Amino acid sequence: MINKIASLLEEVNHLKANTYDELEALRIQYLSKKGEISSLMNDFRNVAADQKREIGQKLNMLKTQVQNRINQLKEQLDDRDVSGEEMDLTRTSYPYHTGTRHPLSIVKKEICDIFARLGFSIAEGPEIEDDWHVFSSLNFADDHPARDMQDTFFVLHGADILLRTHTSSVQTRVMEKTKPPIRIICPGRVYRNEAISYRAHCFFHQVEALYVDKNVSFADLKQVLVYFAKEMFGAETKIRLRPSFFPFTEPSAEMDISCNLCGGKGCPFCKFTGWVEILGCGMVDPNVLDNCGIDSRIYTGYALGMGIERITNLKYQVKDLRMFSENDIRFLKQFT
Ligand code: DAH
Repeated sequence: MINKIASLLEEVNHLKANTYDELEALRIQYLSKKGEISSLMNDFRNVAADQKREIGQKLNMLKTQVQNRINQLKEQLDDRDVSGEEMDLTRTSYPYHTGTRHPLSIVKKEICDIFARLGFSIAEGPEIEDDWHVFSSLNFADDHPARDMQDTFFVLHGADILLRTHTSSVQTRVMEKTKPPIRIICPGRVYRNEAISYRAHCFFHQVEALYVDKNVSFADLKQVLVYFAKEMFGAETKIRLRPSFFPFTEPSAEMDISCNLCGGKGCPFCKFTGWVEILGCGMVDPNVLDNCGIDSRIYTGYALGMGIERITNLKYQVKDLRMFSENDIRFLKQFT
């Protein structure tokens, strides 16, 4: 047995493996249950008591040496792989995929850029808001349906902490802290308790614009709306204002643009009217200015708000709103 161990010890130093398969074969030959070392361990039971100590030590030594040699061979194989000996450096590489901007980000940036050219600066506010900034300061009556749990997500019920339902809350935040002239654009995410479908989601995105100064008039608002529509949808775009109601503006209007798919001739997208609605707007209600500490006898202002998803749909004809939040790479890749 001593001789057998000695010759194996000699052998171990010369073991070679050129591939991982060969290495595995060595492992099986020496270290597996039916391998050389196991069979020596079996024989070891019959060794005479006075020899057990010496042979036992040799056997253990053999085992560690085999293990070390196999580890060493593995390291050599690993090293060879990364050192490139076996690589074909002339092969063409795999195509490298860069990410793309999300369509909503593209359109948000476009909207903000247009307003930035008119001197508006970006303002942001928290998504978790309180009743004052989302509703009360903006002149919502106590019994307005938006205050109902049916329509608004309350975070802390009874404590009036809620997820903002529109970015108009940022108006209040800025007006409370800033003296006119104020010229801001507020992009952000908003939340409403809606059943999710292809045309409604429980969260979406809006951009709010606010201009407060002395002598701001509805004519100024209209000018900005025309500029925005033409910049966003092309020089031939027409706008149409319809009277509307919002608690925080008086008078209020909704703006339609000539359908950019059919050029106003009428198509299924505009329901054959030639027009599509894109935003709400109006002159800031004097109550809102006063609520925010701005003297409504001195200052006037206009505000407008639009959904980014809506504008994006018009630009890219996305039929299902849910696509925007599912992050399907095949969808996102199209917007480069
Ligand atoms: N906050 C309104 C909404 O979420 C949108 C809006 C309408 C904003 C008119 C305005 C405005 O600033 O003047 O539906």
